[in-house]
Amino acid sequence: MIIQSNTSKKIAGYTSGLHKVRRSLIIVIMLVCSFSFISSVSAAEPSLDDLKKVLQGQIKLMKPELQEKVKGLSMDTKMSLMAILAMHNRYSQTVTLRQVMTEVLSDFQSILAGIMTDNPEQTADSARRLANHRIPVGGLLPYLGLENINDERLAVLDSFNSSVEGNALKLASAAEAGDMAKAASLVGPISSGCVACHGYFRSQPGVSELLH
Ligand code: HEC
Repeated sequence: MIIQSNTSKKIAGYTSGLHKVRRSLIIVIMLVCSFSFISSVSAAEPSLDDLKKVLQGQIKLMKPELQEKVKGLSMDTKMSLMAILAMHNRYSQTVTLRQVMTEVLSDFQSILAGIMTDNPEQTADSARRLANHRIPVGGLLPYLGLENINDERLAVLDSFNSSVEGNALKLASAAEAGDMAKAASLVGPISSGCVACHGYFRSQPGVSELLH
């Protein structure tokens, strides 16, 4: 337990530094995206307007007590939520976060199988699939608990997400370049991201209320 929480703290410290750099990058990317939307140069990337619509659609599905909390979030937090959405293009109308996580675990295991059998194609495809995991119905927020829906608690969400997904994309590129040793070296950083996010937003799954 102690080791795990120390690791989480280290990761949180490391990722919050990265977070600031990423935040400025995100804003630049957003500006570029909305510019290309206005000038109709590219239809492939979602524009800021598209992302706002997705977020508003998710808010509509929420019960009033959660809606109220989400509407009270700062622009900065909303921008980082939209930046996470911008990295995904698979939205489910029915699937829950637990189901998404089970699928993410399968993709993670498939990355390992690809590495262990020296199969760069399986490795890269699985890593890209993991990075572009499905977004559950209503988005991530409904599954995090009302106590976590505030600017302070959500400030880390983007960095946990990117330590998993950013490293998964790096792992995919390494595998595609035939560098399986580098791909293997990124497995640890990805799993640290999973563990850090679970330590922060999740307790032990499946605890029974029928035990002392
Ligand atoms: C953004 C934060 C975050 C990241 C990053 C994350 N998870 Fe999760 N994970 C959660 C939350 C929150 C839950 C609990 C969801 C619930 O019970 O509704 C969860 C639950 C799970 C579960 C349990 C599902 C169940 O049936 O209870 C598994 C397995 C899992 N995650 C795997 C992973 C793996 C593998 C990774 C990394 C590749 C990962 N997660 C990354 C937040 C995260």
